[in-house]
Amino acid sequence: MTNSRTLTNVFGVIGCPVGHSMSPAIQNQAFRSEHIDASYHAFHVEKKDLQNAVTGIKALGVKGFNVTIPHKEALIPLLDEIESTAKAIGAVNTVVNEGGKLIGYNTDGKGFISSLRPYLSASLHDSRILIIGAGGAARAIYFSLAAYGAGEIDLCNRTVLKAEKLIEECPVKAKSRALSLQNAEKELNNYDIIVQTTSIGMHPHVEAKPLSLENIKSSAIVTDIIYNPIKTAFLKEAEEKGCKILDGTGMFVHQAALAFEHWTGLFPDVKEMHDIVMKKLGGTLC
Ligand code: ATR
Repeated sequence: MTNSRTLTNVFGVIGCPVGHSMSPAIQNQAFRSEHIDASYHAFHVEKKDLQNAVTGIKALGVKGFNVTIPHKEALIPLLDEIESTAKAIGAVNTVVNEGGKLIGYNTDGKGFISSLRPYLSASLHDSRILIIGAGGAARAIYFSLAAYGAGEIDLCNRTVLKAEKLIEECPVKAKSRALSLQNAEKELNNYDIIVQTTSIGMHPHVEAKPLSLENIKSSAIVTDIIYNPIKTAFLKEAEEKGCKILDGTGMFVHQAALAFEHWTGLFPDVKEMHDIVMKKLGGTLC
């Protein structure tokens, strides 16, 4: 990584809101630990200013950036190149500036899979997975699991039609069904891994759950992409049923680590990043 225009390489995250982002803390620590002269900043960019922000990023020689709500989809037509997974998902969360050419990636789904891997007792290829939700996060995770070759990936959603559409739009065909939340609840004991991707249970509605885990088997792994609170009501119920649980901090940290790797070619210390996140959130590990 070299930069002829500035002494210190500049990176950042663009979003709105972005003030509470934990990305600067973990990425700056990763740069320090890898002895890279770089700094990472949070840039508040309104929707109306996205094009100007991209022009500015190129003009200033910003070396790379993350993208968060609400720009993940809208940024795509403003970039020079989109990697195939990000193109299929229709959203980018990481951009690399390669000599003035902005290249978009999506590390969310791969980050999820990396965070899940240490918890697996069987191969993902043999696992029956249920994803709850059919929004942007579900899409990134579903497409990545399908590309990985997961055994069976069902989707359940309040609006079943959206789940059907998401399955149809995936370029890699997986063994999948779209279910209502009620039917998924009834069939829950079929699944080895449950992936909660909706905002249900997020602060301040911390008692809310997308569905009941009454029928889950105790050998299942239950994951929630929410990390505010760290342990959602959904994860608490799963823990009471004897399931292994995985909170949203793992996916957050792994998607960040993969972004760092795109920028630097180096894979950072994920545990160090995770410790910073847990300290900031004031919690303990699941
Ligand atoms: P993101 O991009 O963060 O994934 P999103 O695209 O707004 O967010 O998707 C939110 C998901 O949460 C959707 O699956 C949504 O269900 P619908 O497709 O039926 O809208 C789900 N969701 C949000 N609030 C919900 C609620 N109160 N009950 C059930 N599902 C809910």
